[in-house]
Amino acid sequence: MYFLGIGGPREPVDDRAGLHAEQERGTVSLHRLVRGLDRAGLLDRPLALKVLTADGLPLGDDDALRPAAAGLIGYCEVAAKEFPQLTAACLDVRGGELDAAAAALVHEPARAKVHAVSLRGGVRRVRALEAVEPAAAPTRFRERGVYLVIGGLGVLGRDTARYLARAHRARLVLVGRAALDERRRADLTALQELGAEVSYVPCDAGDPAALRQVIDETKERFGALHGVIHSAMVLVDKPIRELSEAELRTALDAKADTVWSMFRALRGERPDFVLLYSSAVTLEGNHGQAGYAAGCHVADAWALAAARTAPYPVRTVNWGYWHAAGDAHRERVLDRFAAAGIRPISAAEGMAAVERALSGPLPQTLVVKADPKILTGLGVDPDAMLKAQPHRPAPIRPP
Ligand SMILES: NC(=O)c1ccc[n+]([C@@H]2O[C@H](COP(=O)([O-])OP(=O)(O)OC[C@H]3O[C@@H](n4cnc5c(N)ncnc54)[C@H](OP(=O)(O)O)[C@@H]3O)[C@@H](O)[C@H]2O)c1
Repeated sequence: MYFLGIGGPREPVDDRAGLHAEQERGTVSLHRLVRGLDRAGLLDRPLALKVLTADGLPLGDDDALRPAAAGLIGYCEVAAKEFPQLTAACLDVRGGELDAAAAALVHEPARAKVHAVSLRGGVRRVRALEAVEPAAAPTRFRERGVYLVIGGLGVLGRDTARYLARAHRARLVLVGRAALDERRRADLTALQELGAEVSYVPCDAGDPAALRQVIDETKERFGALHGVIHSAMVLVDKPIRELSEAELRTALDAKADTVWSMFRALRGERPDFVLLYSSAVTLEGNHGQAGYAAGCHVADAWALAAARTAPYPVRTVNWGYWHAAGDAHRERVLDRFAAAGIRPISAAEGMAAVERALSGPLPQTLVVKADPKILTGLGVDPDAMLKAQPHRPAPIRPP
């Protein structure tokens, strides 16, 4: 079965409706196809699904960028996990090199463990992981720096805000869609007690105009914006067989729209950094997380492209599992992962990794705490270690 996730308007899409139309043609249509195949009983016997995308995994500055296409990869990774008889192949080419793509797609083997393949100028590339030893470097956070945290009262956002309050007496603007309630008010009070100046702004970060207003108000109040951390998501934990199209879109858009919108709202700004919290789900998918995996792939594609082109450093951290913070559902999930050899990352460990990711030169870092056999299974060579040199930031201006 071949799915051609290509086509659409020639010009890059730069509005939310246009992005949604791309997702409809791409990930949502593939979901419809997979659900149809399942209902027809065709996933109960061996089936190879081969997906072609264009410009979803750009490599060079001259490559066109269509991050929505990358969502198909995340979806396929999860589908191949959930349907044991399904194997899949994902091939991404340059939009201008489609002529050569059909033959390459036919020859690309479908696997149970899907690897996205990039084919550009006849060169076939597959992503690989390398262990990295980060060099010691000064922090990129400023004392009393002004930081915007999107999803700032979620689990990772709150842990990050606490760290910034305690370690850097930061001035924080936290964004989430929900209105302030008792729990959120208590969180803000706790952050103030730790040393932060903090405000919470209810805002849908997928709306670039609304986010731009938050940025303008932040600069008006604090006189600067030194960094932005994206920590927003909506988790929908449901297998594809039960996942409605609306649920798929909810999980997908929560990542894809908000990351696109963040970079759009930041046009004309020169923060010290933008940091995206993404997930290890982009390595090989996770049962029940098709929309989230698709959204994380799209978000990573935006961030990796921005890391090459934005006038400020962009870093993506793909997290393994963060500690559960007292949440019963997360505790149960973590128990399952512990049994498989993956352990939760504590807030202190996570923030040490953030410091290193921000002061280092690598645009994307995977941070996991796992048994060596898990890392070997992910293709990490235990005997090879990349030494990252510290990034040399521009001189820091006083706050
Ligand atoms: N927890 C983990 O183990 C783990 C593992 C890997 C990666 N991550 C990554 O870490 C980040 C945070 O995860 P988490 O576990 O902290 O999630 P979380 O507790 O669910 O928090 C996410 C926050 O995002 C906000 N949000 C969602 N959609 C939004 C929108 N359109 N505009 C503004 N805010 C929005 C939510 O607030 P409202 O509902 O008020 O909007 C929520 O507080 C995510 O990027 C995730 O991919 C987490």
